[in-house]
Amino acid sequence: MTTRIERPLSPHLQTYRVTLTMALSIIHRATGIALYFGTLLLAWWLIAAASGPTAYAHVQAFTSSLIGKLILFGYTWALLHHLVSGIRYFFWDLGYGFKANEREALTWGALIAGIALTVLVWIIAYAIGAGR
Ligand code: HEM
Repeated sequence: MTTRIERPLSPHLQTYRVTLTMALSIIHRATGIALYFGTLLLAWWLIAAASGPTAYAHVQAFTSSLIGKLILFGYTWALLHHLVSGIRYFFWDLGYGFKANEREALTWGALIAGIALTVLVWIIAYAIGAGR
């Protein structure tokens, strides 16, 4: 008969305390996956532009609808958040920003910069008339 040996268990999701860096790590991966779908939208736009006015009108009907605008806003945020959050990873890859306060500052910075840049891009888009 074999006796069960009590070995230590590896931690799992219920054991970890959710931290800002952990949440942003998940968001980084999620935005990366969302970018695949955003790239499909970009490809649709370019192919339609090359195909002619009817195909382009379909894209425009989508991008000027409320749902289309919401998806584009989400795509803008996913792209800009992933970009600034990705730059944060480059700091870490270079060996900087590992102290607790630096980690937090970089992570808050990426979160705030991603949102601020998204709003800025949309303000500029509307200001030049592209949002209409
Ligand atoms: C359309 C463009 C992009 C797509 C589709 C994309 C997709 C992804 C995906 C799916 C991941 C997660 C990989 C994983 O966790 O296994 C990832 C990670 C990463 N991305 Fe992007 N990405 C894009 C653009 C960028 C840009 C512009 C940067 C520049 C800063 C960037 C920097 C990073 C970094 C540093 C990681 C690794 C993060 C880690 O170590 O966990 N990505 N990307």
